[in-house]
Amino acid sequence: MLKLNLGCGSHIPNGWVNVDYAMGAWIAKLPILSTINKKLKIINFDWSDRIFIHDLRKQFPWADNSVDVIYSSHTLEHLSKSEGRHFLRECHRVLKPNGIIRIIVPDLRAIIDKYTQGKIAADQVLDELYVSYESPRDGALKRRLAPFIRFPHKCMYDTPTLLRIFSEMGFEGTSKGAFESEIDDVRVIEQLDRTDEAVIVEGKKIPAHISKQVNAMQLDPVKL
Ligand SMILES: C[S@@+](CC[C@H](N)C(=O)[O-])C[C@H]1O[C@@H](n2cnc3c(N)ncnc32)[C@H](O)[C@@H]1O
Repeated sequence: MLKLNLGCGSHIPNGWVNVDYAMGAWIAKLPILSTINKKLKIINFDWSDRIFIHDLRKQFPWADNSVDVIYSSHTLEHLSKSEGRHFLRECHRVLKPNGIIRIIVPDLRAIIDKYTQGKIAADQVLDELYVSYESPRDGALKRRLAPFIRFPHKCMYDTPTLLRIFSEMGFEGTSKGAFESEIDDVRVIEQLDRTDEAVIVEGKKIPAHISKQVNAMQLDPVKL
């Protein structure tokens, strides 16, 4: 069974192909650079050398209809709107018919609600949206490296928007709660703190013959 954890960060459970392309994951594969990084503390992440390195904005290295499950937590929002659509199209291409996809992203509505309810002030909204490469605590080196070691949010989602995109891509999706899933080992892959104030959408790839029938019915109102 082939299961992908796309944008894994430091969470690399067994039984999954854990994919990321952060500089830390590259460095972890090069012992000398890894030692220098530990000494200079350039990157704090505890990166593993077991990560499968791939830039998720590019074509996926897996064959059509070859993957059983795709899990991606807090990664889609780091891609621009068009990169995100490309990423989801690639997920659709590599998933087997009826294969499962589960995406978790921060919930824009939760952030806006906190602001409109007076729980956060206006000058905290951009912090919550996490849209800047820079941190005021960064020294000169980290500032230069920021575009390579920081991943600000480039697109935000809420549940209705992600469900609509799922449907456009050919997934049948529903909104889920934490650990509510058809993925057998969801308790291994899901991290409770990542489900807080988050959109959680899980779906299946609609088999091609069914999606063709649906499209034909939409084009031919007589059949409806
Ligand atoms: C906020 S972390 C999420 C980590 C983990 N999935 C979690 O939920 O805690 C986002 C991850 O996406 C990765 N990422 C961002 N853009 C990527 C890309 N284009 N290709 C591969 N990984 C990417 C980053 O390196 C980072 O590890």
